[in-house]
Amino acid sequence: MSVLQSVIVETSPFDDQKPGTSGLRKKVKVFMQKNYTENFIQSIFNALGDKLKGATLVVGGDGRYFSKPAINTIIRIASANEVSKLIIGKLGIFSTPAVSAIIREQQVLGGIVLTASHNPGGIRNDFGIKYNIENGGPAPDNITNKIFEQTKQITQIKTTPTLETDRIIDILGTSKFNVDGREFTVEIIDSTINYVNLMKQIFDFNKLRALIRGTEDRPPFNILLDSMNGVTGVYVRNIFVEELGASPDNNVRRVVPLDNFGEIHPDPNLTYAKDLVDKLKENSTYDFGAAFDGDGDRNMILGKNAFFVTPSDSLAVLANNLECIPYFQKNGVHGFARSMPTAAAVDRVAAKLGKEMFEVPTGWKYFGNLMDAGRLSLCGEESFGTGSDHIREKDGLWAVLAWLSVIEAKNMGVEDILKEHWTIYGRNYFTRYDYEECETEGANQMMQRLEQLIASADFVGKSFTASGKTYTVAKADNFSYVDPIDNSVAKNQGIRVLFEDGSRLIYRLSGTGSSGATIRVYIECYEKENVLTDAQVMLKPLVEIGLDISQLKKFTGREEPTVIT
Ligand code: G6P
Ligand code: ZN
Repeated sequence: MSVLQSVIVETSPFDDQKPGTSGLRKKVKVFMQKNYTENFIQSIFNALGDKLKGATLVVGGDGRYFSKPAINTIIRIASANEVSKLIIGKLGIFSTPAVSAIIREQQVLGGIVLTASHNPGGIRNDFGIKYNIENGGPAPDNITNKIFEQTKQITQIKTTPTLETDRIIDILGTSKFNVDGREFTVEIIDSTINYVNLMKQIFDFNKLRALIRGTEDRPPFNILLDSMNGVTGVYVRNIFVEELGASPDNNVRRVVPLDNFGEIHPDPNLTYAKDLVDKLKENSTYDFGAAFDGDGDRNMILGKNAFFVTPSDSLAVLANNLECIPYFQKNGVHGFARSMPTAAAVDRVAAKLGKEMFEVPTGWKYFGNLMDAGRLSLCGEESFGTGSDHIREKDGLWAVLAWLSVIEAKNMGVEDILKEHWTIYGRNYFTRYDYEECETEGANQMMQRLEQLIASADFVGKSFTASGKTYTVAKADNFSYVDPIDNSVAKNQGIRVLFEDGSRLIYRLSGTGSSGATIRVYIECYEKENVLTDAQVMLKPLVEIGLDISQLKKFTGREEPTVIT
């Protein structure tokens, strides 16, 4: 083996490398600038310091455009920074949940996830780099802040330019290199294997196979899973087609990962996964539909005729039925959690079952400490994320397997399960209005004005009326969170207007966009008896009040939201 020499390349900082809710996300052309990607990778390594020496890291992502050059860069820089081994998914393919799973299983230092999640991909669109820590979860604020500090000071990149990376990720197997006299290993793996094994330990695959294939007593439960040309395609084929006997022609779609996601927006919601919604509406033989985002951590659940399950309800239904899943039979069910803007349906389940309930800021990283402390088993977010403490990321495929387990155990369809749930608990009606790519200035001004408004002396107690309904403000604030485990504080996590009857209006700026500002308005009300009305109809008065209070149209010039979920 020839000895390769690392070199030092001089560089200077970029001022826009602050990681957002889920890592650094920018247009591909930004990452293509000279040393841009290199600087960020070296900054991650600088932030890790001595822990990096001799360590193993996992690398992979949703396979979007620019993944290959980014992986080659990581290989060269890692080798020069004394990393001893990289475990990389073949062709760079690794769903976000699968990265989390393997970090935990192999007990490695962490992972670098190459994804911009549900943002469009391809040369004109987004790329992203996210660091996950040894518990398998996204790096918490103290680490991402350290990385950001490093990006502002960086002067040098250590790399091994002579390390031959050409086609290295195309072939399974292990390559060893000698860099500066140290051994450096690159192992290319099939990233589905460990993940599929984990799912087999969590769920009863025999029962799920019987559900999908049908039995003497029960016709096949007809599913349609849409991978939206993202990374889950390979996992879906493996789990649903090969293991559970689903039909490759009728039960799955868009299962070949494409580096531009076929020019679609790989986000599983009613707007961007409309194609799936239409398929279920056209074909009423389908009992169930689900879609996943680009990197496989998000999910959308639909019933027959595209009956939509809002993610807040999905979380509550799963919370109410975990006993049918072997993993929870074995490990028990500890607490539940949701992000602040997520509707409070699960809180009612927690209260009934006597479980601890946590409300955290938006971002999956806030669940990690609670899980590590053994206080949280199941959590979710309105942003189409659901997951459990089997890993430290949300997990789209897990959510579908969990739903199918509930359906199998209850022998009921999706809509009936929801109706039964609402009859027991009442219904938290929820909708979210998104205004994407607004002018940053207008969006910031709107938030500042809202902040002033809710601080004004007479705001609490004020009543607002629209379409004949009146709501009185009980409390208003900008949400802050103190982590119960490490006491770290997250401030300014969204403006909340809480009304006397429990209804809520919440305003946040998205932390995951790559250009302009996305305003999100979350609208929720609770009804004990009247549970079967269309959510948009039920929430119309509150929506009007929400737009009125924020003067959103004035600040953004937008008449209509880009997306309604
Ligand atoms: C990512 C995170 C989620 C979070 C979501 C919020 O998907 O993994 O935990 O809920 O972003 O995105 P936003 O655009 O609202 O900041
Ligand atoms: Zn995602």
